[in-house]
Amino acid sequence: HHASLTLDPAFKVAPVRRRTFGTFVEHLGRCVYTGIYEPGHPLADDDGFRRDVLELTRELGVSTVRYPGGNFVSGYRWEDGIGPKDRRPRRLDLAWRSTETNEVGVDEFVLWCRKAGVEPMMALNLGTRGIAEALDLLEYCNHPSGTALSDLRVSHGAKEPHGIRMWCLGNELDGPWQTGHKTAREYGRLAAETARAMRMVDPGLELVACGSSSSSMPTFGAWEAEVLEETYELVDYISCHAYYEEHDGDLGSFLASDTDMQYFISSVVATADHVGARLKSRKRIDLSFDEWNVWYQSRFRDAGTPDDWPVAPPLLEDHYHLADAVTFGGLLITLLRNSDRVTAASLAQLVNVIAPIMTEPGGRSWRQTTFHPFAQASRYASGDVLRVEPVSPLYETAAYGEVPLVHAVATHDADGTTVFAVNRSVDGPLSLEIDARALGAVRVVEATTLTDPDVYARNTADEPDRITPRPNRDVEQDPLRVLLPPVSWNVIRLA
Ligand code: AHR
Repeated sequence: HHASLTLDPAFKVAPVRRRTFGTFVEHLGRCVYTGIYEPGHPLADDDGFRRDVLELTRELGVSTVRYPGGNFVSGYRWEDGIGPKDRRPRRLDLAWRSTETNEVGVDEFVLWCRKAGVEPMMALNLGTRGIAEALDLLEYCNHPSGTALSDLRVSHGAKEPHGIRMWCLGNELDGPWQTGHKTAREYGRLAAETARAMRMVDPGLELVACGSSSSSMPTFGAWEAEVLEETYELVDYISCHAYYEEHDGDLGSFLASDTDMQYFISSVVATADHVGARLKSRKRIDLSFDEWNVWYQSRFRDAGTPDDWPVAPPLLEDHYHLADAVTFGGLLITLLRNSDRVTAASLAQLVNVIAPIMTEPGGRSWRQTTFHPFAQASRYASGDVLRVEPVSPLYETAAYGEVPLVHAVATHDADGTTVFAVNRSVDGPLSLEIDARALGAVRVVEATTLTDPDVYARNTADEPDRITPRPNRDVEQDPLRVLLPPVSWNVIRLA
């Protein structure tokens, strides 16, 4: 099998957006408690944050972190999470049927972000709450001092304002599972008035309106149109959320999940532009793909939520195998390919909960298979995204019809060019020929591949590096050719 692609620095899609490499920390399961925060842990720092998790977060190359939810945020009172910890209330978390201790709140989260070197992206509760509480949180976080709420923050030890630029106007309010679920009109009006009020405080904020929770929502398309009709001039982004899993052993369709993500992006771009045209607006709305991942949601639905309101129970702890990582890599490639309109994204989530980083309470931490495509893309994608159109054999999938075996993108800067490619073929390697004539005299300086003879092989705490990028020695320099193993994620660096 052969495939080919052409690299030409003249064909730029857009700059690589650092915010493509965002993730997400929700008060859900063990993401916060025993994830980023575990005061009793031998590696905990003075603020109770796990140093091993901080280090892995830096290694992952995370840019922004969305917080505190997710479904959790739609019932959250942010005031519960500030001030002396021994006076913070314990509350029912309706979204995950857990007990929230509030030991971590906005001040701790922002402190953690500073340590991790990431930008916080704050989500507001527009489920059970509204404009007043959004304004209060904004004043508490961002106003320097001299008002009741900003002085309260200062009195809690945060002298400098948190300076949060990006705000999500609620979470998944199109979903009937959401506390405070709304129709598109109801939500659109609330989001518009919340945005208008927030901009009275600070016109420079970047605001995200909720889009659809998946492309299979019955309101997909109509929801975005109605919400944007209400909010178009007041927001910067519309959000997209998508999760994928293998159904009934159909690996071929699963590996092609990015087909749905591309459909999602193209549909939302078209919808947003259509609303803009009707409003006679020259403004362009960007996409914040602020929840995406492989998630075995059907298993979660079967297991259900706990009924005894536990504190930080293990929930959504998916254990990813190689095929998950390759599918995940395909999704990341699609996000990058759409960098002209997808200018922010958040991998859901960061630790323990459908996450690239796993921890044991009191114990070890390790990298899941999906850690690696993310870390490599964040590290090596730089400069501009190049338009590449692979010529590839096709294969038949039950879910998406004919799909190319190779899915790829490239980025280019003064130091070199990097190709990110997945081979979805389950039965053999593919020889990828790279026409790099437009780059001048370049060679492959490094090629790595993430693969395994067992596509269902996983990393564990005992064997954390079973699946890790390894050098790919099947490289020819003239003409440039790289052999992509079956079911593999590949990074090819040229300079
Ligand atoms: O990431 C897990 C959940 O998925 C989030 O809480 C919610 O927004 C989405 O449905």
